[in-house]
Amino acid sequence: MFPVQEACWLAPKVRRLVVHAPRVARRHEPGHFVILRVHDGGERIPLTIADSNAENGTITLIIQVVGATTEKLCALEQGDSIANVAGPMGKPTEIENFGHAVLVGGGVGTAVIYPQAGALRRAGNKVSAIMGGRSGEYVILEKELSQYCDNVYPCTDDGSYGFKGFVTNKLKELIEQSGDVGAVLAAGPVPMMRAVAEVTRPLKIHTIVSLNPVMVDGTGMCGGCRVTVDGQMKFACVDGPEFDAHLVDFKELADRLTTYREQEALAWNRLHELQASGGCTTTTCRMAELEQTETAK
Ligand SMILES: Cc1cc2nc3c(=O)[nH]c(=O)nc-3n(C[C@H](O)[C@H](O)[C@H](O)COP(=O)(O)OP(=O)(O)OC[C@H]3O[C@@H](n4cnc5c(N)ncnc54)[C@H](O)[C@@H]3O)c2cc1C
Ligand code: FES
Repeated sequence: MFPVQEACWLAPKVRRLVVHAPRVARRHEPGHFVILRVHDGGERIPLTIADSNAENGTITLIIQVVGATTEKLCALEQGDSIANVAGPMGKPTEIENFGHAVLVGGGVGTAVIYPQAGALRRAGNKVSAIMGGRSGEYVILEKELSQYCDNVYPCTDDGSYGFKGFVTNKLKELIEQSGDVGAVLAAGPVPMMRAVAEVTRPLKIHTIVSLNPVMVDGTGMCGGCRVTVDGQMKFACVDGPEFDAHLVDFKELADRLTTYREQEALAWNRLHELQASGGCTTTTCRMAELEQTETAK
């Protein structure tokens, strides 16, 4: 079992959990992720390791509630435990001295760019970060990123905080004004990463994106996470999750992410029916009930 040592909300439906997972913490590098199961018999989901502390044996996860499993995970409080945490998985981020490296994070994608910022700074880069959210309350990790970045640019769609507009508008402006951007690393929703690729492609700026296909085993065996990069089939769990943005088939990735919509909706409805049916509402009891229904399925 992997105990939760800290739990708090960073933004609406975005939770930060610090989890005791010493073996993962010791081997964590930027770009790595874990695959976890909240409870025995539950669904396996991939999550970026946003931070780690090898001395304390902890890893930090930043999770957005989008479906049944992320909702169950975000219901955990300090003192609760996660059943399984496997990792670190994936290839670490390509860290070099690019001169000026610009990180672009959309929503919880900011969890991916946070450890990259520290590593890029240590490699001698000038580092800028652009973080987007719908409105000010959705912009996360600004203070944490400021420790490693020369400049941070929060952006909001509604202009309630920072730059008014999409992260790509800010990226264009920054590239034009600074004239020295050597690499862009982006993580966030697929349309955002695709738009970042289109900003940097004509300028031939080296651009890396962190892909988020559905993953199951995380070992390259199930094929769930296959993506097409430079016309070749790759498995994001073992060959990625980071790839050259100018070579990724984003249309295929977007299509594949909608494949399990119906099953995801069923799982969400089942969880909410169970919650609405009353009984004990504590996390542990709800987990036990869920375990029984999911085993019986
Ligand atoms: C390498 C990797 C790292 C990730 N890191 C994080 C992270 O740090 N924080 C975080 O909140 N999420 C992260 N994700 C996404 C996370 O795994 C999904 O949100 C989660 O699996 C959804 O599970 P669910 O049962 O709650 O929702 P589901 O019911 O399975 O899905 C609900 C909705 O989420 C969408 N969704 C499902 N799977 C994914 C996915 N893999 N990526 C994006 N959207 C998805 C579905 O299209 C659907 O609309 C990462 C994904 C990958 C592949
Ligand atoms: S998750 Fe199964 S092959 Fe990548």
